[in-house]
Amino acid sequence: MENKKSNSTTTSQNGNQSKERSSNGSMQSSQLMKLFEDELKDIYWAEKALTKAIPKMIKNATSPELIDALTSHLEETKNQVTRLEEVFESIDKKASAKKCDAMEGLIKEAEDIMESCEEGAMCDAGIISAGQKVEHYEIASYGTLRQFAKTLNLAKAVKLLEATLNEEKAADEKLSKVATSAINVEAAELKA
Ligand SMILES: [Fe+2]
Ligand SMILES: [Fe+2]
Repeated sequence: MENKKSNSTTTSQNGNQSKERSSNGSMQSSQLMKLFEDELKDIYWAEKALTKAIPKMIKNATSPELIDALTSHLEETKNQVTRLEEVFESIDKKASAKKCDAMEGLIKEAEDIMESCEEGAMCDAGIISAGQKVEHYEIASYGTLRQFAKTLNLAKAVKLLEATLNEEKAADEKLSKVATSAINVEAAELKA
């Protein structure tokens, strides 16, 4: 009798444990989904802000290579806004933006540089530096978002986020190339 009792207690304990485990699992996945949505709103705000900030950088740039790199990335950025709307749609959510303090700060930094720099190579070097900080923020954000989407089994979102991640990486590399090609050398000569 005593044995039976202790067996039944063990069974019921195990049952509770597995129930707890599965409810923990779904709780974790809904929390991750919430984090995924919050980060999407953050980068959606950031991309929209960049569609307004990049034209100012183009206006202040001098080197044709830099103007070209920024102009083509502006077009990509507009497309990335649309792509994020598709990500929202793929999870049945309405696209909405939440102010991204980090991107606001990076854009402000770019504006400060452009206000105080000497026109030409010095200003170009400053724009590249600010632009690369923006790209690195985006690379970090899209890398995280893609990983969240993978964990949440959101195949369509993974594909869309990966496409943008690759564009951000390419934009960063292009800016590095422009910097090493002529501008920084010229800026250093001006300074000397
Ligand atoms: Fe972007
Ligand atoms: Fe970008």
